[in-house]
Amino acid sequence: MQIRLDIKRRKSAADTPYLQSVSYLFDDINETVATALTKINRGGYKDTDGRAVTAVEWECSCLQKKCGACAMVIGGVPRLACDTKLSLFQKAGFVRIEPLRKFPVVSDLTVDRSIMFKNLRDISLWLDEELSADEKSVDTAYDASRCLQCGCCLEVCPNFYAGGKFYGMAAGIPASKLLAQLDKGKRKALAKQYDKHFYSGCGKSLSCKDICPAGIETDALMVNSNALAVFKRLFK
Ligand code: SF4
Ligand code: SF4
Ligand code: FES
Repeated sequence: MQIRLDIKRRKSAADTPYLQSVSYLFDDINETVATALTKINRGGYKDTDGRAVTAVEWECSCLQKKCGACAMVIGGVPRLACDTKLSLFQKAGFVRIEPLRKFPVVSDLTVDRSIMFKNLRDISLWLDEELSADEKSVDTAYDASRCLQCGCCLEVCPNFYAGGKFYGMAAGIPASKLLAQLDKGKRKALAKQYDKHFYSGCGKSLSCKDICPAGIETDALMVNSNALAVFKRLFK
């Protein structure tokens, strides 16, 4: 099978990006974008203009849909490269591979997602004590723990931009874990931060639910967190 990979490239953030097209052959119907990038980076490929293809900068770690590092825009949609099969684009004959657009580009397909972690720190989303573990809160916490911090939800969120007051679902999901498990008294400070940086800015369009590569039911967790952080605080 043959497919054209149109890879958006630039050496640094200051450079003007360009598309480099590579005609790529693959045998395995399950071959992923991550595998294609890995093979290209072993060298020996030329682009459709006959120029040698230098190593494409991109991030990966687990190659098993577990770390979120390989998130990028593939075929116009944010996805994990290690979980996106080339055969999905076989009919079109080509696929465009670009960096996520909501974060500053470092080079090629690598972006700087540190704003997501800064936002988590900003609302003090860390554990420094034992949490309650009743059946319901454990289920919620388990679901929330599946968040990869990949940033795909932020890419499609109409209300998120890096540096803005609204921190998006990448903060809303980890917050829902602590909100479900903290005692009422200790929940107060986080509830206020959740209200300010998530609840009041979320338009509830739920594009984040459709796109989440971890399959997290973002709507269910959001409903639970809204009840705990906003409605119970205001009306009880
Ligand atoms: S909620 Fe889903 S899309 Fe958003 S960062 Fe977590 S795993 Fe990624
Ligand atoms: S529901 Fe809509 S506004 Fe809220 S976090 Fe998801 S995509 Fe963003
Ligand atoms: S490399 Fe870890 S999710 Fe793709």
